[in-house]
Amino acid sequence: MSNTAPWWRSAVIYQVYIRSFADGNDDGVGDIAGIRSRLPYLKSLGVDAIWINPWYKSPMADHGYDVADYRAIDPLFGTLAEAEQLIEEAHRHGIRVIPDIVPNHTSDQHAWFQAALAAGTGTPERDRYIFRPGRGPDGTEPPNDWLSVFGGPAWTRLPDGEWYLHLFAPEQPDLNWQHPEVRAEFESVLRFWFSRGVDGFRIDVAHGLVKHPELPDLPPRRDPEDEGPRQHVEHPHWDRDEVHDIFRAWRKVADEFPGDRTFVAEAWADSPERLAAYVRQDGLHTAFNFDFLMASWDPKDLRAVIDDSLAMLGAVGAPATWVLSNHDVVRHPSRYGRKTTKRWVANEPYRPEGPLDLELGTRRARSAALLMLALPGGAYIYQGEELGLPEVEDLPETALQDPIWERSGHTDRGRDGCRVPIPWSGPAAPFGFSPDGTSAAPWLPQPADWGERSVEAQTGDETSMLELYRSALHLRREHPALGDGSLTWLDAPTGVLAFSRGQGFACVVNLSAEPCPLPDHTSVLLSSGPVEGGLLAPDHAVWLAV
Ligand code: GLC
Repeated sequence: MSNTAPWWRSAVIYQVYIRSFADGNDDGVGDIAGIRSRLPYLKSLGVDAIWINPWYKSPMADHGYDVADYRAIDPLFGTLAEAEQLIEEAHRHGIRVIPDIVPNHTSDQHAWFQAALAAGTGTPERDRYIFRPGRGPDGTEPPNDWLSVFGGPAWTRLPDGEWYLHLFAPEQPDLNWQHPEVRAEFESVLRFWFSRGVDGFRIDVAHGLVKHPELPDLPPRRDPEDEGPRQHVEHPHWDRDEVHDIFRAWRKVADEFPGDRTFVAEAWADSPERLAAYVRQDGLHTAFNFDFLMASWDPKDLRAVIDDSLAMLGAVGAPATWVLSNHDVVRHPSRYGRKTTKRWVANEPYRPEGPLDLELGTRRARSAALLMLALPGGAYIYQGEELGLPEVEDLPETALQDPIWERSGHTDRGRDGCRVPIPWSGPAAPFGFSPDGTSAAPWLPQPADWGERSVEAQTGDETSMLELYRSALHLRREHPALGDGSLTWLDAPTGVLAFSRGQGFACVVNLSAEPCPLPDHTSVLLSSGPVEGGLLAPDHAVWLAV
């Protein structure tokens, strides 16, 4: 990698789900003070940047993804002054800061939506959102058949008879991105935070901003069992071509500021080609590669995703950004710890099936980490992934808070299982999540045995997940072959993924059922488990000097 390549082409970015990272003010909810107190940990882990889930003023109907004021910090998390201090201190630790921005919708408590409600039907205040009359003789049917991602219809009717669109919860009305004030406002919000020193933004639901002007009904659904090639079908509200105009304008805003500010898109596209359109030279810098996250633990599936992603992103000059877990999906040791680790279909809920073999899942998660961190490009680590945390699948129903639980009529438990506050130290809850001697219970209950998984318990234990991540991240920083660049596949037995990076580095991942011989090497740099007699056991991975 050349020394002049911008940092984001090879960055390892750590996702801080602020509610669950560290509680500094002793109320059982994570906050900015907590993040500040843990910067030394992040530094010693060896990450380049943190992405912080929304910290703005919010009624928390979707835990911050319902923003009431984009220029204010929610009091639950701290103050604007504390956010500024965090940015400065993180920079002193050599860690960049990337907040989340939520442009698809606001909170229903946002001043604009409140003004729209007060102004009534047919007023310009309503044009900043998507209000429509209903269908049917009395307008009692929603304007079209669109569905909320969280369950139920995407429309809610007001007492005055009009309906408004919300692709998520009713408390998250969708903005109208055809409206010039909406565009101007977000560019101004970007400048507000860029001038406070943030290094970029993660863009929430980047693929949803533009809707078909006529709001037509949905196209017929593809059969999820259909394994044939995925043809792109124009969709009335996902991944429309017009969305790229918005991001071209955002790119110009980022370029007004010094120091390689960057965007990462949360864009669910139905092919690597469609995803690559977000990261063309005049568009956004990077986009999460969800195809990697959705792949099953299967050599063919993984290799196809890696090849397609590198080819399509490479064609537009963008780096890949690999991701295994985040705050919306089942944690990967639990996904991989099942007999069949079936491929995930976008827009379908992924719920684990069959009994969990966590030892198996953990073994694979260790290998997946070495695979991800050896691939060309950047990578995301979701807090707690470095501790090997599994999904908490048995949260009591009374504890569930994700709006999906209510909206699905209690058929889908939602995403709380990957959002449980992380364990830092000590033998009992809250495991150092809140200050010592606290009386506040963490906002979601932690499993009783998470003491074994705490940062304290794993530190210095060479066999732990935490030390594997630390070693991998430190090696990655030092090794010139890692990060940005390309890979070359090596000959390997069936079911084994083996590739070299530049001069002198190779990664081998054994997804077969048999031990596999290692290619010629001068030394083992790092391995997910013991390498004996020159053989790599099934579900293990290794980094080699070659
Ligand atoms: C994104 C976020 C998710 C949120 C949704 C609505 O998918 O990652 O957590 O609920 O957008 O903002």
